[in-house]
Amino acid sequence: MKAIVVQSLGGPQNLALVDLPAPSAGAGQVLIAVEAAGVGLVDVLLRQGAIPGSSAPGFVPGIEVAGTVITVGEGVDRSWLERRVFTMVTGGGYAERVAAEASHLVPLPPTMKAVDAVALGVNALVAEFILRRARVKAGERVLVRGASGGIGVMATQLAARCGAVVAAATSSVARGQRLLQLGASQVLDRAATSAGETPEGFDVILDPVAGPDTASFLGKLKQNGRMVVCGAAGGFPPPDFGMGALRAFKKSLTFAFFSLDSIATTERAAALKEIFDSAASGELKPVIDEILALESASAAHAKLEAGGVFGKLVLVPSAFRRTPRPDVPAAKLAGAPAGGGERLPVS
Ligand SMILES: NC(=O)c1ccc[n+]([C@@H]2O[C@H](COP(=O)([O-])OP(=O)(O)OC[C@H]3O[C@@H](n4cnc5c(N)ncnc54)[C@H](OP(=O)(O)O)[C@@H]3O)[C@@H](O)[C@H]2O)c1
Repeated sequence: MKAIVVQSLGGPQNLALVDLPAPSAGAGQVLIAVEAAGVGLVDVLLRQGAIPGSSAPGFVPGIEVAGTVITVGEGVDRSWLERRVFTMVTGGGYAERVAAEASHLVPLPPTMKAVDAVALGVNALVAEFILRRARVKAGERVLVRGASGGIGVMATQLAARCGAVVAAATSSVARGQRLLQLGASQVLDRAATSAGETPEGFDVILDPVAGPDTASFLGKLKQNGRMVVCGAAGGFPPPDFGMGALRAFKKSLTFAFFSLDSIATTERAAALKEIFDSAASGELKPVIDEILALESASAAHAKLEAGGVFGKLVLVPSAFRRTPRPDVPAAKLAGAPAGGGERLPVS
């Protein structure tokens, strides 16, 4: 199979397309013909070796895929065969084939494109769980930082769907216009917001960015306000970032970090099924910045690192861009995208 490997830790140019033996489905696993693989900042950090415990060079990145089950391992119900699914994996997603735990699979609704499933996938799950952690309620004022990123576009939509009044922070006027179309009530300039020019008064701050300004954002919370940090697109917060909140003790602020790793697989699958159903019924939009060929993984990483991406970058193996492969059921391939994915109008 064709796969992307990280040849050495470092820049995006270290990603290379190689031929590898396809993995096999072990006990409790399935083998998936990958139709779409999501590209996220986690992949970038792993490629750089910036996450403690990162793999040694030579690994295949990619933690979320959608595709068709083509083999089942020992102990796996054969009814999974030929079903189109989404799953998170611990790596190996940037490839034509990936082995995955059968217990982690989430079936795709019949009309859902694989590229849309990965555009929702991890990002919508994180967004859903940070909203739950923050107990967002109708009428509350919610600030979404990094609102045009993969997690941010989902958090913006889900918070608006809860009836919250959403302020979306971005560095781009054009992306701000698109966020208004996704349900934001107000767009805030990212630099002005970080510089403290935004008035205080948020009930909730949903934050995939963190970085040196984390403390000033905590200071923008109202009495009983809640802030959930789920990522560090802007870097880690300084060690004393909580001191202001401590001094404002009488405001009873709540601060939390959130990682999807803390959520049980069954709970993730249940939440994702609801997310897919919402997307299938048109209530939630998968937002795809660009669909690239699998062999363009290094360009995808370079683009993500350069900033300016709106929503998700998705990789598609060549079998799903041109001619169907003989070992993938034709009926399943018929529904596969040739570069689909709903796009919002660019203002
Ligand atoms: N908690 C979890 O389980 C989990 C799961 C997956 C990913 N993550 C993490 O979540 C974070 C965000 O991921 P993502 O996929 O949403 O990233 P992304 O698509 O790159 O989006 C981040 C957005 O934040 C804005 N931004 C970037 N640098 C910034 C800065 N210094 N200050 C303010 N805004 C900045 C940019 O938007 P503008 O240019 O428009 O402002 C950018 O689009 C990453 O750290 C990722 O590792 C966490």
